[in-house]
Amino acid sequence: MPLISKYEAVLPRHIAFIMDGNGRWAKKRGLPRTAGHREGAKTLRRLIRDLDDIGIEYATFYAFSTENWKRSDEEVSALMKLLEENLDDLVNYENENIRLRFIGGRERLSQVLRDKMEEAERRSCDRTGLTVTLAINYGGRDDIVRAAKKASELIRDGFLKPEELTEDTFESLLQTADIPPVDLMVRTGGELRLSNFLTWQTTYSELYFCDTLWCDFTKKDLEKAIGEFSKRNRRFGDAK
Ligand code: FPP
Repeated sequence: MPLISKYEAVLPRHIAFIMDGNGRWAKKRGLPRTAGHREGAKTLRRLIRDLDDIGIEYATFYAFSTENWKRSDEEVSALMKLLEENLDDLVNYENENIRLRFIGGRERLSQVLRDKMEEAERRSCDRTGLTVTLAINYGGRDDIVRAAKKASELIRDGFLKPEELTEDTFESLLQTADIPPVDLMVRTGGELRLSNFLTWQTTYSELYFCDTLWCDFTKKDLEKAIGEFSKRNRRFGDAK
C-alpha cells in the first residue's frame, strides 16, 4: 500500500520550515549555540528523507535570514561552515533523487559556499523527486525588492509595458518563480510569527506552529502537521 494513503486527504505540495529553537536546545544541555545548529542540520537531513518518503514535492527551509547577520561573528561563521559541510552530503543523496536549489542573495556569501551551491544545483537539476530549497541570506522583503528592481529594469529597457506588470508577471520575477506557493508553513520552537520568510509566497498558506524545538522535530511531528493541514478548509477567499 503506498505511504500516501495513510494521509487520506490532500497532501501539501509545498511545505516551508522555520527551523527555530536550536539555541535553546543547546542551552538546555549546557552546550554552545553552535552545537544546536549542528544538531539542527542533522534534523534537516533526516527530515528531507521523511518528506521524500511521504511524497511531498517541495520543501523550503529557512537556513539563514537577511537578519541573521546581526548574530555574533562566531555564530555566523559556524552557520556558514555548517552550510558548506552539509551541501556536500546533501548533493550526494544520489539514490534519493533529491533536487537542491537556493534562494537568497549570494553576493555576501563566501566564494567557497557560492561554488558549492552552484555545484549542488548543477549536479541535482535533473532529479525528479523532492525539490529542497535552502534559503540562505534570504528575506521575504528583499525578495520582493529584488523582483521590483528587475521589473523596473525590464520596463526601462522596453521588454515589459507597465500595463503588463500583473501579479503573475511579478511572481515570475521572484526567486521562487519555478516553485509553487507554500501550502503549509511549519514553525518549530514556540514563536508565532513568520519572521520575513516567503512573504509573497505565504499569503494563502496554512500556518502550523509547535513548541517542539527544531532539533527534536521528528517524522511523527511532521505527520501531525500534515494531518492538521489535511483537516483545514482552504477557501482562497471564496465563500463556503
Ligand atoms: C533558529 O534557531 C535557527 C537558525 C537561525 C539557523 C537554522 C540552521 C540550521 C538548522 C542548520 C542549517 C543547516 C543546513 C545544512 C541548511 P535559533 O538559533 O534562533 O534558536 P533559539 O530561538 O533557541 O535561540
